[in-house]
Amino acid sequence: MSETARELLGEIEAFLAQFLVTPSKFGVAAVNDGHLVAKLRKGGSVTLKTADRVRAYMASERSKQPAAPRQVAPSHRVLLIIGGGIAAYKCLDLIRRLREHAIAVRAVMTKAAQQFVTPLSVGALTSERVFTELFDLDDEREIGHIRLSREADLIVVAPATADLLAKMAGGHADDLASCVLMATDKPVLVAPAMNPRMWLHPATRRNVTQLEADGMAFAGPNIGEMAERGEAGPGRLAEVPELIEAITKMLALSSQALAKNGGENRPLIGRHVLVTSGPTHEPIDPVRYIANRSSGKQGAAIAVEAAALGARVTLVSGPTQLAEPPGVEVVHIESAREMLEAVRRALPADIAIFAAAVADWRVASRSDEKIKKAAGQGAPRLELVENPDILKTIAAEKGGRRPKLVIGFAAETQNVIEFAKKKRRAKGADWIVANDVSPETGIMGGDRNAVHVISEHGVESWPDLDKAEVARRLMARAAKYFAELTAPA
Ligand code: C5P
Repeated sequence: MSETARELLGEIEAFLAQFLVTPSKFGVAAVNDGHLVAKLRKGGSVTLKTADRVRAYMASERSKQPAAPRQVAPSHRVLLIIGGGIAAYKCLDLIRRLREHAIAVRAVMTKAAQQFVTPLSVGALTSERVFTELFDLDDEREIGHIRLSREADLIVVAPATADLLAKMAGGHADDLASCVLMATDKPVLVAPAMNPRMWLHPATRRNVTQLEADGMAFAGPNIGEMAERGEAGPGRLAEVPELIEAITKMLALSSQALAKNGGENRPLIGRHVLVTSGPTHEPIDPVRYIANRSSGKQGAAIAVEAAALGARVTLVSGPTQLAEPPGVEVVHIESAREMLEAVRRALPADIAIFAAAVADWRVASRSDEKIKKAAGQGAPRLELVENPDILKTIAAEKGGRRPKLVIGFAAETQNVIEFAKKKRRAKGADWIVANDVSPETGIMGGDRNAVHVISEHGVESWPDLDKAEVARRLMARAAKYFAELTAPA
């Protein structure tokens, strides 16, 4: 395969992972050839003219995209070691999905890995430099293998080839990937991918047994078809959702371990933070419900930030389109009454933040059958009854059941500060975070928020900020308040 074709394939794989288009649709749209990607994956070559047309197509598609929304502050950092196997291209999708989960990824590639995907494509998705060389004495930006390990919460090896497993089991350290793996004290997740005969070979069996005894965790391999025609058996790289699940579980465990050992800049270690988020769905019948436009973004950002400060976090969330933040226990509910029940079960908590847009009313008696449209009977009448006020109920809890800091949100469309001040008193909250949700502000469902924080001491108005930044400031303020509250006199 020529250098041009390999470079181009790497760029195409990154594009496919980013835009989630199928290889055949991509080929047709770019150069009217639905087989282009398949041919390149099989080692085929391209003319420079075709490569130029493909690149021009990708550039034009990228320029049509709105500016990427700013990511939620990463809650964890993964160091991804990419080994040299045909499955390496799946790492592009893995990186994208990890970043959607607010997990920052830094990549190390072995020499062989660069035969399958280029550092350029990997770097485009990690938004970081990709590390390939052990020693580059001329390079002042060089980050040593110790620092690569120290700055990660988890090391993931994917795809782990037979050769890489052998090196790891034997303790070799002759390139950057193996050196990092030898020098690390961080948890390691290994995702093997190789031909079934190599996976079943006694040497690989011995190496896997050794690595398990050394405390490494494994994800996969799966059983299935191989890239080579007619080959099937154990050896397929675990699918991306399986890898994400294994990674988020290990990150959650490592956060707990860190909390036990203490940590820098984690003032909420040992604390429990409860967050409600998203809309509620109030059923009318088995297929219909009353809902609102809340996206759950602000609550999820607060949960991520609380976890980053070291807290154990329970996020009680109504139905949203968001990925579950890692290191956070997410309790999914639908109705207001289910939310209250889940919140009660999650208590006691040190800090409780009620960011959910809870429906004020529910249908008095939901129908067990779908309500039928019957000729001549007109529209049904829905009788509404009030939902429990979760914030008010929890703020009124007695003794140790009431969280020491109770924060509510107030979404208003007029007289924002005045109404919010009244709401703080009426609900018994310590703070109210008030915002104007008039449609012209674009706050409901959007990525930005302009809030006023109202406490017994007055009003603090913050500028228009990214919801992640609102979360950061709010949790920093909460952690400081909490530290003062609990400091010995
Ligand atoms: O009364 P209002 O809906 O404006 O109050 C908003 C605040 O109260 C938010 O913090 C919201 O999460 C909380 N709330 C609640 N249960 C309700 C209604 C609102 O926890 N039933």
